Amino acid sequence: MRQQIAAANWKMNLTLEEASKLLDDILSGPQQLKSHQKVIFAVPFPYLQMAGTKISGNANYHIAAQNCYTKKSGAYTGETSVDMIRSVGAAYVVLGHSERREYFNESNTMLAEKVNIVLDNELIPLFCCGEPLPVRGSDSQNAYVEKQLEESLFHLSNDQITRLVIAYEPIWAIGTGKTATAAQAQEMHAHLRNVLAKRYGNEVADNIPILYGGSVKGSNAKELFSQPDVDGGLVGGASLLAAEFGKIIEALK
Ligand code: PGA
Repeated sequence: MRQQIAAANWKMNLTLEEASKLLDDILSGPQQLKSHQKVIFAVPFPYLQMAGTKISGNANYHIAAQNCYTKKSGAYTGETSVDMIRSVGAAYVVLGHSERREYFNESNTMLAEKVNIVLDNELIPLFCCGEPLPVRGSDSQNAYVEKQLEESLFHLSNDQITRLVIAYEPIWAIGTGKTATAAQAQEMHAHLRNVLAKRYGNEVADNIPILYGGSVKGSNAKELFSQPDVDGGLVGGASLLAAEFGKIIEALK
């Protein structure tokens, strides 16, 4: 059975004290996870170790970094390497979030390099893709997102791509309160799975979790996650509220 994932993307929010309390509140919630269900917390770099300590020993919970650099180590002031990330207990790295693409000029080519260094160092990329509003407006979202996958991922081998988690996040739905409808999400997720199947075969494509992101909330998670190709969510705003994120976890199939 394909993995089902609720991933929290805290972005650049919360002090250490607030982050620690939020994590305690979420972890003490009533949710019961089945073996194919996972919760991932993508926390700011300074909180990775704290978060890793709190979830340790619980196989369903994991920590993610929100970014990494393309080099292993060296004179790159202010950057964070995959070795550093792994050494503080994170298992995942979010790559290609639209905010990084937009504000930090991360291109598909640079993301291919980041995907490589993450996989080569035994971490798992949580790779984001998604179209801006004008692309959706001209109904060319399928080709746009396909190109993001092709240019950043399609050099990978079957074994490598099988380790990935993909998140489809239409940019017009991120932080806007405007969610893609369950039908729009399903349509794109089915398209992505098709594109993956054409390159890697059905078996590989069927096993890759594809999460939806963009204004996921406690009130819409169940409908979104009930779609056959939607395997959970990457959640920004609502992941900063313990009760809301708890409902999202409980909405996993
Ligand atoms: P949002 O953010 O849930 O606040 O829309 C999602 C994301 O950016 O990952």
